[in-house]
Amino acid sequence: MEDIVDEILRLKKERNAIILAHVYQPEEVQEIADFRGDSFALSRKAAATDADVIVFCGVRFMAETANILSPDKITLLPAADAGCQMFTDALEGEVRQVKAEHPDALFVAYVNTPASVKAMADICCTSSNAAAVVASLPKDKEIVFLPDGNLGAWAQEQCPDHHVHCWQGGCPIHAGLTVEDLERAKQAHPNAKVLMHPECRKEVRKLADYVGSTSGIVDYAAASADQEFIIATEQGVLPDLEDAAPGKKFYLAFRRMLCVNMKKTSLEKVRDALKHMEPRVVVPAEIREKAVDALRKMIAIQGK
Ligand code: 13P
Ligand code: SF4
Repeated sequence: MEDIVDEILRLKKERNAIILAHVYQPEEVQEIADFRGDSFALSRKAAATDADVIVFCGVRFMAETANILSPDKITLLPAADAGCQMFTDALEGEVRQVKAEHPDALFVAYVNTPASVKAMADICCTSSNAAAVVASLPKDKEIVFLPDGNLGAWAQEQCPDHHVHCWQGGCPIHAGLTVEDLERAKQAHPNAKVLMHPECRKEVRKLADYVGSTSGIVDYAAASADQEFIIATEQGVLPDLEDAAPGKKFYLAFRRMLCVNMKKTSLEKVRDALKHMEPRVVVPAEIREKAVDALRKMIAIQGK
């Protein structure tokens, strides 16, 4: 009998599909992906692929981004109910209200937003280019950064002459890490350097040796002369770190750094998505046409 990985590979070929996986996905899903990476790298790949079908192993906002950037492809999200806990559906209405109150402000939408919010934004960003995106905007304009207040604050620190108002949203997995958790990890591993995602809270971030997106963290660990690292981001990144920096030691800052939505994808769901060409993500044309500029501007700005 054909095993599930062979079945996925056969269906992928028949459909002329590409499988994209975020680095927080389960390890077995990352292993069958054609390309794995952080949100920025995946957006770029989705915009440039010549496949007919994009199978997005990640969460909904990522599949929506792929569909906005490549509307002529079929976008499949095997885990149809995988959302992002950083925002609720109320975000769209709240942003509309703040826009009405601040008609001259520029809106930077983290890529972790629904398509309808991207449609109202001037530019999007990911964690790898948030500061570079803010730096690209005029200094004399009010900037509203949404919805991750921790990422916004980190970008503002690197652009002290810009006026950034940070929304108060946040990722429960990253922002849940406390100073006490990190102190405990540092005591247990006194020689380890701390590598942290900018979605962590400011007081925790101050204790890090390096702050950057998931791919920034992997690149830093690979290039560093140090041998031990405390990793303050979602645990799915560990296999990537071990591949990129073989022999080095990685310890999770806190054992519960796990995004349940990112773990909703399974090999069975990927196989079924390719077999039935469902569940699809289709962003309505009127939203897509408004959101695409903000995303194109984002993918043109390289960060780290
Ligand atoms: P990056 O992929 O930009 O590191 O973002 C992390 C994240 O939380 C994605 O949901
Ligand atoms: Fe959202 Fe955080 Fe999960 Fe990323 S890790 S999808 S920001 S809840």
